[in-house]
Amino acid sequence: MPKSIDIDSKNYSVKEFVEKLNFDECVFDLLKFIEKDNKKVKDFLITKYLGASLPANTEEYVLEYFINNSVFSAATMANPATSIVTELLYVRPNLNHPIDKYFLASKSGKAIRSRIEKVEENIHSLIEKYFEKNEKVLIGNVGGGPSRDISDVFSKYYVDNDNIDAVSIDRDGFSIKRGKLLAKIGNVENKIDFLGINFMKHKPKKKFDIILLVGVLCGLPSETCVLVLKNTKRMLARGGCIMASNVTPKMLEDDPFTYFLMEKILNWKLIFKEEELLKNIFRKSGLKWQQNFTDEYGFHNMGIGI
Ligand SMILES: C[S@@+](CC[C@H](N)C(=O)[O-])C[C@H]1O[C@@H](n2cnc3c(N)ncnc32)[C@H](O)[C@@H]1O
Repeated sequence: MPKSIDIDSKNYSVKEFVEKLNFDECVFDLLKFIEKDNKKVKDFLITKYLGASLPANTEEYVLEYFINNSVFSAATMANPATSIVTELLYVRPNLNHPIDKYFLASKSGKAIRSRIEKVEENIHSLIEKYFEKNEKVLIGNVGGGPSRDISDVFSKYYVDNDNIDAVSIDRDGFSIKRGKLLAKIGNVENKIDFLGINFMKHKPKKKFDIILLVGVLCGLPSETCVLVLKNTKRMLARGGCIMASNVTPKMLEDDPFTYFLMEKILNWKLIFKEEELLKNIFRKSGLKWQQNFTDEYGFHNMGIGI
């Protein structure tokens, strides 16, 4: 670690800081732990949250503290868009360090878990809707990571149904390997093809009835989202639909401390989009907004367009 750090602490106690900003109890628990473990880091977090800019060696010291102590932080800093991070929040393993426990206990962490539950419910309803008119249903999971959502839905409802298949596309080879394992565990490995490629370049031989784009647009500016959705629309069969998610400003309003850690410490930037903006992105991409749903915290909005 850098030898010395120079912190201009505002001398706020953790209690005062949490009460003044009306933060959740898990913020109090995290800062109390850090205060005991390394008071300089706690002073830094409070000072930085309050808007001060701090010397580079202080920033580096705190960065190292987070990398050295938290699986979640190290994975995020290595690659903020990696499915390793979302998988941690889906599976919620018993991580030991209070920083990791914080991310799991935060509203933003719980919202991700809730998002996959709602996405799975809606995938199931959409599949049933398509079976009313089609004999076969083909799903494309674009930026699908390990496609836990598809594996879960297929293994819960369609193990013996030969009329449903999926193609999961992700350029991250590790998520492809993990997806194959999950599909095998769910006894649905014969129903999901995993392609380790850039989805922007994919030209499917068979077009998809349902396309999922979950956790892919959140970090992208609107114009890029339009390009991605236009490109994804090319892969849609006649009468097909796209489900695309984006993080909403409610996350920033209801859980600002988690986003502070994500953005200012771990360098994970999101572009929050109001529903009107997401609808506009759909419209500009040539998609007709049909319906939407959110996770139970309202932090993620999943639009469905045709
Ligand atoms: C946050 S993860 C979400 C994974 C999964 N959809 C979910 O809901 O858990 C985003 C994924 O999109 C993938 N991705 C982003 N851009 C891509 C591209 N152009 N081609 C292929 N995969 C891409 C990343 O590799 C990553 O696995």
